[in-house]
Amino acid sequence: MMVMTVPAVDRPVPHPHSGWQRVVLVGFMGSGKSTVGRLLAHRLEWTFVDLDDEVEARADCSVDELFRVAGEAEFRRVEGEAGAAALARPRTVLAPGGGWSLAPGRLEGLPAGSLTVWHEVTPEVAVRRATGHGRVRPLLAGSDPVERARELLRQREEVYRRARLHLEAGAATPAALVNAIVAHMKGSA
Ligand code: S3P
Repeated sequence: MMVMTVPAVDRPVPHPHSGWQRVVLVGFMGSGKSTVGRLLAHRLEWTFVDLDDEVEARADCSVDELFRVAGEAEFRRVEGEAGAAALARPRTVLAPGGGWSLAPGRLEGLPAGSLTVWHEVTPEVAVRRATGHGRVRPLLAGSDPVERARELLRQREEVYRRARLHLEAGAATPAALVNAIVAHMKGSA
C-alpha cells in the first residue's frame, strides 16, 4: 500500500484585522502620531507613511521652509495630494500632520475600512513634545506657544473628536497605545 503524504496546502491565513485596511492617526502636533504609527505599522506588518516626510520629499524642502517660502496654503495643497496618494494603498498606517484632518470632508471621505484614532494631549504636553527637539512647528512659533496651542486645539477639537477611537496619549507609552489600537481592531474588524 502506498501512503501518500498530502502536501501542506498553502491556505491564506485570514488576517486578524482583515476588516481594516488603513489606520489614520489624528491629533495635535506632539501627540505622538509618528512614533505610534511607526510601531503600529511594524506590528501589523503594514506600510507606514509619515505625511510630513512625504510632503518634504515632494517639495524637496522642510515643512518649515515650505511654510516660510510658499505659505501655508501651498503646504496644505501638497499635504492633500500626498495624503490622497498614501490612502490609495491598503494596509497602510498614516500619520498626518495635525492640520491635515481639518480640510472639509477629509475624515468623512476616507476609504472604507479606515480606522481613525485621535491621540488626545493637553496643550502643555503638545508644546513640550513638539518644540523639544527635531522638527520646527511653524504654527507654534511666537512668544507663547502654549497659548497658541490652546487656541488651535479649541478650534480643532471638534474635528479630532470625530475619530472613531479616542486615546489619552499624554501619559501612555507608545507601546500601550499600539496595544489599544490593535485590541480595537481585533474587536471590531
Ligand atoms: C501642523 C502639524 C505639523 C506639520 C505642520 C502643520 C498642523 O505636523 O504638518 O507644521 O497644522 O498642526 P505634526 O502634527 O506631525 O507636528
